[in-house]
Amino acid sequence: MLTAEENDMMTQVGPGTPAGELLRRYWHPIAIAADLTPEKPTMFLRRLGEDLVLFRSTKGEVGLLHDRCSHRGVSLSYGRVEERGLACAYHGWLYDVQGNCLETPAEPKESNFCLTVKQKAYPVQKLAGLYWAYMGPLPAPEIPKWDVWARTDGWHWLRALPQLDCNWLQAMENSVDTTHLHILHQELVTDGFKITSTTRGTIDNLVKYETEECEYGIVKRRVFGDGKVEEHPLLFPTWLRQANRTQIRVPIDDTHTYVVYVHFVPDSAGPRPADGEVPVNYRKPFKNPPDQSHPFARHRLDEVDAQDFMAWETQGPVHDRTRERLGTSDRGIVLYREMLVREIKKVEQGLDPINVFRDPNGPIIDTHLEESIKVGKAGGFAHILPPKAANN
Ligand code: FES
Ligand SMILES: [Fe+2]
Repeated sequence: MLTAEENDMMTQVGPGTPAGELLRRYWHPIAIAADLTPEKPTMFLRRLGEDLVLFRSTKGEVGLLHDRCSHRGVSLSYGRVEERGLACAYHGWLYDVQGNCLETPAEPKESNFCLTVKQKAYPVQKLAGLYWAYMGPLPAPEIPKWDVWARTDGWHWLRALPQLDCNWLQAMENSVDTTHLHILHQELVTDGFKITSTTRGTIDNLVKYETEECEYGIVKRRVFGDGKVEEHPLLFPTWLRQANRTQIRVPIDDTHTYVVYVHFVPDSAGPRPADGEVPVNYRKPFKNPPDQSHPFARHRLDEVDAQDFMAWETQGPVHDRTRERLGTSDRGIVLYREMLVREIKKVEQGLDPINVFRDPNGPIIDTHLEESIKVGKAGGFAHILPPKAANN
């Protein structure tokens, strides 16, 4: 149980908030790269509580600016792209990817007024079929070289989930919540488990489970009745490593979250996609109506991610942790909260939190990708490939 102040401190993501400042020390994926096209070269995005526009100039440069024009506040997502950048639709103030103002067409020709204007801009990189942004103090660190993201002896595919309509911490706490798999997902994650009863699900197949801090986050280890041992880490702060993938959660604001999976398929599993593109599996809405929340929407429960979304969203827009009753099985959640507070404090002291890497030549970080593919729930390579139908 937390106090209301502690709950706010851990959940809020806007500029100047404790967790918001911590999360601004990391690169976050903000959009699927293939969704930004010459036909649709601007995209409004809210990330970490800030309203932004992602755009691609006709020269192919990609920028991320604050959405409201410095002139009189019109959304730049309606702007026109050209070779030099993005021009506001209202009076044509033209910004480059660094946020420099290059033109103010209605001002006198001899005026240097535009030199005094700077639109807030953030650095963007493309990796694994995603655009990533860094919204913190410069210099920016490196995107962590987790093997799943950085290995080049294979290919990536993405799973794009519907918008999660609740606070990001609910999803992250789930990532260290070992036991829910055996209750919530009892019909869908079978793997030879026996269901004892609908109430107990498959939990009696679990002989022992542990969560402990490791170099990069928290490792979850499970020992099953058949002797199989499975372990995978939560990579601090917002990345769950499991099987051949990472589940990535990016706060949109305090009550909405962007969720995307990055999968890595080693070349040994079969041929790469012929076009060299990064396939994207866009999931159908998990609830009906899709733009409503509990109790005004009903979640479907016919896939694992949909079941998780039901659990996270029905906890409330921001789970009220002053009213919870934690048991011994919630110790992973307590551990994550302790790490979160500790890393928030580091940032407040001017230090880098964990998993901020500054060496551009640092090595690829081994997260036991090969082993986790082998022990994967469905066995073999079949489960690591994208579904055949694009929108399955
Ligand atoms: S509001 Fe953008 S140019 Fe005037
Ligand atoms: Fe789950």
